[in-house]
Amino acid sequence: MMRVGKRTRGRQRRLGWRWVALAGSVLALSALVAGGAVAAGGGSPPSRHANPGIEARVHALLAQMTLDEKLEQLQLEADWQINDSEARKGVGGVFSLTNPEKINHFQHVAVEESRLHIPILFAFDTIHGYRTIFPIPLAEASSFDPDVATADDTFGARETAATGLKQIYSPMVDISHEPRWGRIAEGAGEDPYLGSVMAAARVHAAQGSDYIAADKVVTSPKHYVAYGQPEGGRDYNTTDMSEQRLWNFYLPPFKAAFDAGADTAMCSFNAINGVAGCGNHETETEILKKQWHFDGFIESDYTAVSELINHGVAADGADAARVALNAGTDMEMVSTNYVDHAKQLLAQHEITMHQIDDAVRRILRVKFRAGLFEHPYVDWQQAESKQLLPDAVAAARIAATRSMVLLKNNSNTLPLDPTKSVAVIGPLGNNQHDMLGPWWGVGRDQDAVTVDDGIMAQDPNTTFAQGCEILDKDPPDPPNDECGSDAGFDAAVATAQAADQVVLALGETRGESGEAESRSNIDLPGKQQELIDRIAALGKPFVVVLFNGRPLTLTKVDDAAPAILEAWFPGVQAGNAVADVLFGNVNPGGKLPVTFPRSVGQVPIYYNHEPTGRPCDPTFKWNSRYRDIPTCAPLYPFGYGLSYTTFSISNLRLSSDTMRSNGSVTALVDVRNTGSRSGDEVVQLYIHDPVATISQPVRRLRGFQRVTLNPGQTRTISFTLDRDDVGFYDNSGKFVVEPGMIDVYAGDSSVGGLTDSFTVIP
Ligand code: NOJ
Repeated sequence: MMRVGKRTRGRQRRLGWRWVALAGSVLALSALVAGGAVAAGGGSPPSRHANPGIEARVHALLAQMTLDEKLEQLQLEADWQINDSEARKGVGGVFSLTNPEKINHFQHVAVEESRLHIPILFAFDTIHGYRTIFPIPLAEASSFDPDVATADDTFGARETAATGLKQIYSPMVDISHEPRWGRIAEGAGEDPYLGSVMAAARVHAAQGSDYIAADKVVTSPKHYVAYGQPEGGRDYNTTDMSEQRLWNFYLPPFKAAFDAGADTAMCSFNAINGVAGCGNHETETEILKKQWHFDGFIESDYTAVSELINHGVAADGADAARVALNAGTDMEMVSTNYVDHAKQLLAQHEITMHQIDDAVRRILRVKFRAGLFEHPYVDWQQAESKQLLPDAVAAARIAATRSMVLLKNNSNTLPLDPTKSVAVIGPLGNNQHDMLGPWWGVGRDQDAVTVDDGIMAQDPNTTFAQGCEILDKDPPDPPNDECGSDAGFDAAVATAQAADQVVLALGETRGESGEAESRSNIDLPGKQQELIDRIAALGKPFVVVLFNGRPLTLTKVDDAAPAILEAWFPGVQAGNAVADVLFGNVNPGGKLPVTFPRSVGQVPIYYNHEPTGRPCDPTFKWNSRYRDIPTCAPLYPFGYGLSYTTFSISNLRLSSDTMRSNGSVTALVDVRNTGSRSGDEVVQLYIHDPVATISQPVRRLRGFQRVTLNPGQTRTISFTLDRDDVGFYDNSGKFVVEPGMIDVYAGDSSVGGLTDSFTVIP
C-alpha cells in the first residue's frame, strides 16, 4: 500500500490511526503515549515546503560565514574529540556525549564564544530507548504493531531531548536477509512493507509534528542504503545488487521515513556495486536529494569518508573528501578530510563553493528547524529526572510482551501454572546486563528486571540455577565465555528436578549482536543445547525462553523442547514481560519479522524470494534444493507465531475480480477466535504477480492488522490494494504497473492461507 517515489503521508497517517482503534492492549499503549507529558507520536509530518523565514535566516547567516567557519559546520565530532577550542571554532555537530552538564558547557562555548554564535547539534544513537530501554527493533517489528515503535520513540525522544541531544541516529531501517549479520537486531527484519510501516511510525513519534518541541528530536534514518545485505553476512562487507532489488526491497523503508518527515540521513559504510555508501552520487544526490526532494543533510557514518581510501575509490584524504562531497555527503563524522582538504580542492576546482554552501545550508536549516538558535541549552540538572519515568517503564513492559513470539507450545505446556513451583535455569535467567540488548543507550544494568525476579514476583515458589555462565566479552574467549563449561549442569538439573515446571533462559549476550558482531554459526552458543537436553531428560514441563538479536538455528532446540518463547532482548522490563507471557496474563501475539532457517547453510532464506525455473522439491533431483535438508521450508517462516488460543481466518472476498491500473480492490476477510481465551491474531495479506516482465517474489506482504478477540468473537478485516501494491520497480528503477493476474493470499503467516485473484486491466 506504499510506493517509493510518491507522497504517501496521508496513507501513512491512516495506517497509524488504524492501530489505535483496534485492541484493548493497543489502546493501553496508546494511552500511555498520549497521556501525561508526552505528545502522541503521530500527527502531521512537517511540510517539505521550505519555511521562508528559516530560509532567509539561513541565507543571511551563510553570507556572513568565512570558508573556515563553513567547513567547521561540516565537521561532526565524537565525544572524545570535542573540547572548548573545537566548540569555539564552531564545530557543526557532536555525538555520543551524554553528560548533560558537559553538553550545556560546550553549547555555551559555541553560542557565546564562537564568532557567529552558531549552536552545535548534539546527537546520539537512541535506537531502542535512551535510558528506558525498550525491546530491540527486530523484536518490536515482531509485534506487527506500529504503536509499539511509536511508544519506544516517543519516550526515547523525550529522554534524549531532555539531555540536550537534538538528533538521533535512528531509525535503523535496513532490510536484511542475513541472520549472520549482527545488525539485523537493529532493524525491522526482512520485509520492506513491514519495515516501511515501522520506519514511519518511529519518525512520527520521535519528531512529532515539529521537532522544535522540547521533547522531540530530528531523526536520521540509516544506513543509506542496502547496508543490510553484506556479502556472507560479514559486517561492512560489499554488496552487489540489482537495481530492482534496491528499489523494491531496500529503498522503501527509507522513503517511508523521509515521507514521514525525517530531516537528516546517515550514509552507509558498505559499497553497492562497487560504489561506497558515502561516495554514492546516485543514491545520495540523484535519488534522495533530487528525486525525493530531501532538503535536510546527510552525515557520513563513523570515519566512512576516510574509508573511501580502503574501499579503493579514493587515493588519499583529499581525494576521499572530493568523492564524498561530490556524492552529496554533507557532514563528515570523526575523520577530518573536509576541514583538512576542502580549501585545496576548491583551489583545484575539484569541488565548488556552491557545493560547500549547499551542505552548510542544509545543516543550518536543520538547526533552525530544531529551534537550536532560540533554545540552545537544556536544564541539565533536570535531565535525569526525565528518565525511567513510570509511564515510559510501563510502556516498555507492554512493548516487550507484544514483541514476544510463541514458537512452539506442545500439549499446552504454556501458560505455566502460578500455583506450582518454577525452576528458572540458565545463563540468562538471573541476568540484567544482556536484557538491554545491543544499543542500550545510557541504560544501566540495574534498571533491568531479571527473568528470575519477574517470575518470582508472580510465583513466589521460584528457584534459580545458572547452569553455566555466558559472559559479554568482546571478543569472546571460547570455549569458556559462552556457556563453555558444564560444571554447573548437575546443580541445575537438581534444581529443575525439585520444581514442577522449568523455565530455561538461554540465548546470546547482548554483545553478540549489533555492529561488528557477525557470526558464521548461529546455533545457541556454547553448551546451551546440552543443558536443554539434560533438562528434557527429566520429563518435566519446560519452556525455552530465548534472548537473542538475530534468527538462530533452533532445529535441535525445537526437537527437544515442548515450548519455545522468542523474547529477543526485551529491555528494562524483560523479566516482568516474560512472566506476564509465561503465566498467561498476556497472551502472546507476536509474529516473526524474519525467517528462521533450519541450518546456516540455508542462508539467505526469506519468504519474499523470486521463483526459479525449477522450484524446490526435496523428493526429486533436478531442482533448487539442498540434498542434505529434507524439506524446502525454513524452521519457522516469516509471519509465524502461535497463541494460547486458536483462530480461524475465513471468507476471503474481493470487491471485484478486475482492477483498473489507477483503481483499487478491497479484500475482506473474517478472523474468529475459536479458542477459550482472549488473544491477538495478526491477519496478513500477501500478493503475487505470477506473470510479469521480471520475476516477482512468490509472495509480498501488502497489509496486516493485529486484532484482539475474545473467545467466539469475529472481526472482519479490510485491506485495500491499489497500483502501489500491485506495481513494482524494474531494473531501471522505474515503477511499473503491468496488466494481468494478481494472486491474493490472506492468512496468519507467509505460508498457506486463503487465496483468490483479480486481474489488473489498463
Ligand atoms: C557506527 C554505526 O554504524 C552507526 O550506526 C552509528 O550511528 C555510528 N557509529 C555513531 O555511533
